[in-house]
Amino acid sequence: MITLEVSLGERAYPIFIGQGLLAQTNLLRPFVKGRRALIVTNEVVAPLYLGAVREALGDVQCDTLILPDGEHTKTLQTLSLIYDKLLAERHERSTTLVALGGGVIGDITGFAAATYQRGVNFIQVPTTLLSQVDSSVGGKTGVNHPLGKNMIGAFYQPQCVIADTQVLQSLPFRELKAGLAEVIKYGLIDNLPFFEWLEANVDGLVAGEQTLLAEAVKVSCQDKARIVAADEKEGGVRALLNLGHTFGHAIENAMGYGTWLHGEAVAAGMVMAADLSVRLGWISSAEARRAKALLQRAGLPVVPPAEISVADYMRLMAFDKKVVGGKIRFILMRGLGQAVIESGIDAALLEQTLEAKEQLCEI
Ligand code: NAD
Ligand code: GLY
Repeated sequence: MITLEVSLGERAYPIFIGQGLLAQTNLLRPFVKGRRALIVTNEVVAPLYLGAVREALGDVQCDTLILPDGEHTKTLQTLSLIYDKLLAERHERSTTLVALGGGVIGDITGFAAATYQRGVNFIQVPTTLLSQVDSSVGGKTGVNHPLGKNMIGAFYQPQCVIADTQVLQSLPFRELKAGLAEVIKYGLIDNLPFFEWLEANVDGLVAGEQTLLAEAVKVSCQDKARIVAADEKEGGVRALLNLGHTFGHAIENAMGYGTWLHGEAVAAGMVMAADLSVRLGWISSAEARRAKALLQRAGLPVVPPAEISVADYMRLMAFDKKVVGGKIRFILMRGLGQAVIESGIDAALLEQTLEAKEQLCEI
């Protein structure tokens, strides 16, 4: 088992990464401070891993809420179901919420924990690659609004993150690939050696090789923990973690939440960011094509949907949380492994990127 730390002073917490961690009875239990817990999971994950987590909680009095599956359930309505359960079962402020599932369960459960009785403990048990490398770490919690993704939420850190890489074996292939988009993101942001390692190992990762996946989770969490520790509430450098997301969130929303997986939309979004960076003269087309090629080898979409118009993008991107004073801030590239935050991007160049589709990075 590898233990990392998210160094946030009094809100610091460990990330445990390893194979078979859910079966370790002494790992989860010490992080439940009171006598009661509510495990929030979904109809897909419950039959696979709920039993192990209940067992790992030992003498804790556990309730369980099994939500429907899917991104379209990440709503205020579903959030209410968690509050309903907590209140109906008379959970007090000393309770602990355990999020068992992917990013959808982690985000919504974390927000419930942030807001129930003004904040209760919570634990992240991420079960998808995407949630192990990204969403379970760093305390972004929330739900979607019909007008924009993750528009309602809070920064709220968990007590610990338990990433059992063995659970990735049951993950559908499409979900594994979607998680790889966020892994590749770390290489592109500020870790060129990791990007090169990914170029060398992407085939094994796509094949689900355990040791490679564990290494990818470890490096991704190290990078994320470092950036979050430097800027917990995204006043600056944390925005880099949104590489590909401004375009990606617009794709997810335009196509209907859940049609394009988050990681798929981020993959196409990163190709768009690379393309715009070439048009701005900041990276070479060869570098942009190298980024695109790695994403393609990971089985990810590198062409955004044909049906989204420039006007659609502009309307949807205006809801991005990085908008400041009406100006969209983009995460772009000054090199591979050198992402930057920029606003005031030339509208004509942006339009060219939004129109490029099949021709992205072929400049
Ligand atoms: P998800 O939670 O929908 O999980 C993907 C699918 O895999 C679901 O059908 C789920 O039931 C299933 N599943 C989960 N674990 C499984 C397992 N071990 N075996 C078999 N099936 C399993 O999607 P996701 O990709 O994990 O997360 C996407 C969400 O995360 C989005 O809502 C996105 O906005 C959010 N996100 C949040 C952050 C953050 O910092 N909070 C960062 C990135 C993404
Ligand atoms: N996934 C982006 C962040 O956590 O900041």
